[in-house]
Amino acid sequence: MNQWTFPTQIYAGPDSLNRLTEFNNESILIICDPFLKDSPSLTYVMGLMDSKNKVTIYTDVVPDPPITHVVKGIEFMEGIKPTVIIAIGGGSCIDMSKGIAYFGRKLKHMDIKSFIAVPTTSGTGSEVTSFAVLTDSETQIKYPLVDDAVLPDEALLTPLFVKTSPPSVTAFSGMDVLVHALEAYVATAANNFTDALAQQAIELVFEYLPRCHKPTATEQDRMSMHEASCLAGLSFNKAGLGIVHAMAHQLGGQFHVPHGLANSMLLPYVIGFNCSRNQEVAKKYAHLSAKLGFASHKASDGDKLGALLEAIVKLQRTLECPMTLTEFGVDKATSEAKLNLMADRALEDMCYRFNPYPANHDDLVSLYKKVL
Ligand SMILES: NC(=O)c1ccc[n+]([C@@H]2O[C@H](COP(=O)([O-])OP(=O)(O)OC[C@H]3O[C@@H](n4cnc5c(N)ncnc54)[C@H](O)[C@@H]3O)[C@@H](O)[C@H]2O)c1
Ligand SMILES: [Zn+2]
Repeated sequence: MNQWTFPTQIYAGPDSLNRLTEFNNESILIICDPFLKDSPSLTYVMGLMDSKNKVTIYTDVVPDPPITHVVKGIEFMEGIKPTVIIAIGGGSCIDMSKGIAYFGRKLKHMDIKSFIAVPTTSGTGSEVTSFAVLTDSETQIKYPLVDDAVLPDEALLTPLFVKTSPPSVTAFSGMDVLVHALEAYVATAANNFTDALAQQAIELVFEYLPRCHKPTATEQDRMSMHEASCLAGLSFNKAGLGIVHAMAHQLGGQFHVPHGLANSMLLPYVIGFNCSRNQEVAKKYAHLSAKLGFASHKASDGDKLGALLEAIVKLQRTLECPMTLTEFGVDKATSEAKLNLMADRALEDMCYRFNPYPANHDDLVSLYKKVL
């Protein structure tokens, strides 16, 4: 039996930040991405808050948030005793804040009435997922904290902050959306509901991500990508992901390849691999390819798949995504030396379990070799 709820209250649209005007007499902790420090956007947010609130801003956030940063954040929060936490930033900021809010509630028994996520990248979907990806800086391993209790209570989807996103952040986080949806679409826990969410996200990405990458991007383009990101998050939160993510987490942990870029590099090879090992997956992707208009409905499944892969590579090139680790700046000898370690760790990553085919160590090494 399938059973689920989507507990996060979602506000979407340019006016969604108005929700913040409803708080008064609260102790509000804003955990915000450092790119927003001293920005007019943050001043605007502060201006929305009733002056009867006590507002504190915390900006000690770094990409791929280490567990030690969560601990520091909890210590800081103990001095504030917030009743509301608002995380404004990319997936790293939201994940770190999820950790802080979660442990604040669970371990410190803090009365946090609302935890609100305001994503500034159209990428992770973290605003609606039960995951917080944290890094152990000593072992370089990314661990997902998985618990429905890390879900934000509310998500505000506004195009205001994504407008400033530089082309590379737009490209990499946008590719993350595509990978979430394409992996969720064939993951072991996928069903008609998660497929519907994934399909809509995929369609929106192919249409709006190239537009968002250009300086001419409109507010509507940005909003559509933001919604795609959220839809993909809702989908993979129930369907699961797969070995693109299991392997990409290691590239992030070892070489600090941005999460979406690591996924992007691996995506075409993993699709090819999964289709060659699982006929149902091949059929499903072929069907999707025709549905998206990449191939005729009358074409063979092989041609439909080829067309889907071509569309993905074309998108990667349009977005100027490095296709290999060498292109990203990691020399081949360094990455080769980590192949076995990364394959071992990818097998233990929780996303691995949802892949539609149980790839073994050698399969993963072969796939890594394609992106050296
Ligand atoms: N919790 C989940 O469900 C989930 C899902 C996928 C990925 N993740 C994790 O999320 C992290 C990646 O998040 P991300 O892709 O959003 O990137 P990010 O949060 O790491 O941000 C990347 C960089 O872009 C900057 N930035 C963010 N928004 C900006 C904007 N609007 N304008 C200018 N600069 C901006 C940040 O300061 C940072 O330097 C990884 O750690 C990944 O593992 C979590
Ligand atoms: Zn991802």
